[in-house]
Amino acid sequence: MEAGHVVSSRGGSIALRGHAVTFTGDPFYAPSNEVFLDIPDALVLIEDGIITRFGPWNELHHLVPDHVDVEHYPGHVLSAGFVDTHVHYVQTGIIAAFGSQLIDWLNDYTFVEEQRFNDAAYSAEMARLFFDELLRNGTTTALSFCAVYPESVDAFFDESMRRNTRMIAGKVLMDRNAPEALLDTVQIGYDQSLELLERWHGTGRNHYAITPRFAPTSTPGQLEAAGALWKLHPDAWVHTHVSESLAELAWVKSLFPERSSYLDVYDHYGLLGRRAVLAHGVHLSGPERHICHQRECSIAHCPSSNNFLGSGLFHVQQAKDPSEPIHVGLGTDIGAGTSFSMLTTMGEAYKVAALNSSPMNSIKSLFLATLGGARALDLDDRIGSIAVGKEADIVVLDPNATPLLRHRSARCVSIEEQLFVLSVMGDDRVVRATYVAGERAYDRTLGMGSREVRPTGAL
Ligand code: GUN
Ligand code: ZN
Repeated sequence: MEAGHVVSSRGGSIALRGHAVTFTGDPFYAPSNEVFLDIPDALVLIEDGIITRFGPWNELHHLVPDHVDVEHYPGHVLSAGFVDTHVHYVQTGIIAAFGSQLIDWLNDYTFVEEQRFNDAAYSAEMARLFFDELLRNGTTTALSFCAVYPESVDAFFDESMRRNTRMIAGKVLMDRNAPEALLDTVQIGYDQSLELLERWHGTGRNHYAITPRFAPTSTPGQLEAAGALWKLHPDAWVHTHVSESLAELAWVKSLFPERSSYLDVYDHYGLLGRRAVLAHGVHLSGPERHICHQRECSIAHCPSSNNFLGSGLFHVQQAKDPSEPIHVGLGTDIGAGTSFSMLTTMGEAYKVAALNSSPMNSIKSLFLATLGGARALDLDDRIGSIAVGKEADIVVLDPNATPLLRHRSARCVSIEEQLFVLSVMGDDRVVRATYVAGERAYDRTLGMGSREVRPTGAL
């Protein structure tokens, strides 16, 4: 990993107490009692942004130094912060745009809105709103598209620096099939990406993703340049879309008739490998999934977006086939996605799996939203679970957030059922607090940036 990864926490030590749930492994491949940790009364001790102790309160509480505040959340669930593996911060303003499938939706709404990010002030305003929404929803890491303009990338990372969040993002590359004002060229796209990568990759907790939008909006020359840039900086990320809708598939076939499949376009230009994150993959064939497995690339499953645009049903069990496993995370895909909430996204993933006749339990969906997402982003050595040595990005969930939730939660007989109820009924209302590198970045009653106010004892 590149330099600059130390978490520069602005806090000293704190301790959290509550019902902790987290993972030590992948419940798609092991019985959940082997990989899912459920500690009804847990202590998480944090020093300088890193978890230093984690376990049952009654075994560990004597290790909490006298001067350290204990933020106690009785009846609340502590989890690793959510990981959104595919989102467009520049589409925050066009969430809930009526009536079209992918290509028309891009032309009618997305390409109009993204032109506004030519303006640094507008970019900064939207970045602020976007980060507020992430933290209000308990999402502490995201992999985001920016617009084609470098200003939009600087605004994103400036905001991330202010919040001390671990983020990945990049300037979108497009040199055809979009409005003139949104196009770069092979050379400009390469040069701007390189400059932004050098500025932001490894700055604070941030990383850079080389971001060709998707095969139809890049010429072969631009895809080749993106592959060359990745070769020059192999520790960066690649972020794009693949095989989302059937009309898109047909379009790619007509643009790249010499390639054997959609995925083969990216493979040909050296854009597949570990830390290549492909959004959607709804219509990937068996041979394409085989290539994903071989190249160790990741798929961001974005169920609310796929449902909203009518793109199709991603088959998570196929992607997680133990004989050819692929890294899978969950993505909101705002603004085609309909909610910033990863709980809601887990609920949508359940419904998609149900339509595929293979319902997914809440242990698996929580894995995808936390450690699975971190693995899909190759960040699981730092984030994605509550464990000693990991960065203290933590969400506190309130199972009694609404009258109906209180009633329903009272009937839950297991943590699995409780998590399922939260995924189907929960959203930002359920998020009691969000901690970023051990500091309270959001509190439902105190608001954003509430790290200055730190009451002790029961909350
Ligand atoms: N494919 C290419 N661009 C986009 C985008 O902005 N959103 C979605 N959902 N799919 C895309
Ligand atoms: Zn997308």
